[in-house]
Amino acid sequence: MSRREHIIGLLLGTEEDWPAAFEALVARLGPVAGHELRTERIVNEPFDLRYRPRYTLVIDRLAWWYDLPRAWLKKVSLMDDVYLLNNPFTFQAMEKHSAYCALMRLGIRVPETWLIPHKVPPDNPRFQPTAERYNAAFDLEAIGAQVGFPLFMKPFDGGQWVGVSRVGSADELRARYDESGERLMHLQTALEDFDVFVRSLSIGAETMSMWFDPSRPMHDRYQVRHDFLTPELGDEIVTISRLVNAFFRWEFNSCETIVKNGIAYPIDYANASPDVALTSLHYYFPWAITALVRWSAFCAVTRREMLVNQNSRAYFEWGDRDDLSYDEKLAAYRKLADAYFQVEAYEEFCVKHLSHLPAIAHEWFASAEFDDVLVRTVRSTFPAHEQERFVEHYRGLLAAWARDNSMV
Ligand SMILES: Nc1ncnc2c1ncn2[C@@H]1O[C@H](COP(=O)(O)OP(=O)(O)OP(=O)(O)O)[C@@H](O)[C@H]1O
Ligand SMILES: [Mg+2]
Repeated sequence: MSRREHIIGLLLGTEEDWPAAFEALVARLGPVAGHELRTERIVNEPFDLRYRPRYTLVIDRLAWWYDLPRAWLKKVSLMDDVYLLNNPFTFQAMEKHSAYCALMRLGIRVPETWLIPHKVPPDNPRFQPTAERYNAAFDLEAIGAQVGFPLFMKPFDGGQWVGVSRVGSADELRARYDESGERLMHLQTALEDFDVFVRSLSIGAETMSMWFDPSRPMHDRYQVRHDFLTPELGDEIVTISRLVNAFFRWEFNSCETIVKNGIAYPIDYANASPDVALTSLHYYFPWAITALVRWSAFCAVTRREMLVNQNSRAYFEWGDRDDLSYDEKLAAYRKLADAYFQVEAYEEFCVKHLSHLPAIAHEWFASAEFDDVLVRTVRSTFPAHEQERFVEHYRGLLAAWARDNSMV
């Protein structure tokens, strides 16, 4: 295949909504800076470790739970320089816990967090004799008091709210700990009565910060609100999101930040396969899909190099300095992160080579083909008696997006 033709591989599970939208937009894109892009859904199959894949770039939604594609991704990353969103080396090596540690060292305001030993230890004959020699007895309640109630107990490598609980008292803490089984847990100070909860979704050099209410049902968590952050806070949250991603080499990730009394506390930022469902993102769905198209096109056409090894030292050099304020450190991180994501070059590329994408997107998201995707997605997500209502609900939100992004 010529260097000017690029196949974007999609590694998918059961999702149909965003892949359909992504495929439709890429199919309508035409040449980008003289390069042709097309998409292909990847099939899982045996592979010769020396075979040459045809993909320039792969968007992975599967390897977080399925080892076969994960092993394939490692091969195409190491041997064939296929660009990956995300690279499994970066996510497997570095989970939520590592992200907390790195951000703490960098001076970001991560709430007080402790790691506690497994309730049910590893099933290994070495455990008992080792523990007898080296494991200190510990006072769970004292740690709870130190962190402060209420607190959140959650898996150190978390995901999808599995095993996450809010703990209001020492009694509850013992009960939840007893239920935690083999999972290694964090205890983290709960931030409640906050001003706002922000979910920011990053795709390469772009970040969208959205007003999020975790206590509502899935379809209603992201709310359409503009200007709900001051420009300074908005910028701080983008900086933190981009910093995490640049630091760990994550390209497609969501970050949760709680703003309380005007101060930003990031609480969760390691989502290898972030939620981009139409039924969650609704109004923001077209942004997410077009950002994926933009970033994929930029990486494929410019043959952006995928870096897996971290340059943590460059960040720690700023983070370890006592003479710098929080704001000064953030400004330094932002420069490093912007350089890593080639923000300027990316923006120029979009202006120069993708200026036709908004019109394509506007037309497609108003088309019968998209409406069909919307209806099918609602049917596969909601019970029969709610489907009609939700079809109208989502049509309304997408119409609002179309109005706010009209081409005239
Ligand atoms: N320190 C905290 N203060 C307040 N709320 C918290 C805190 N930690 C977690 N939560 C709440 O619990 C939810 C789940 O926690 P967290 O995001 O850390 O877990 P997760 O398993 O990664 O979830 P997801 O996959 O949805 O991102 C958060 O969205 C938030 O509502
Ligand atoms: Mg979360």
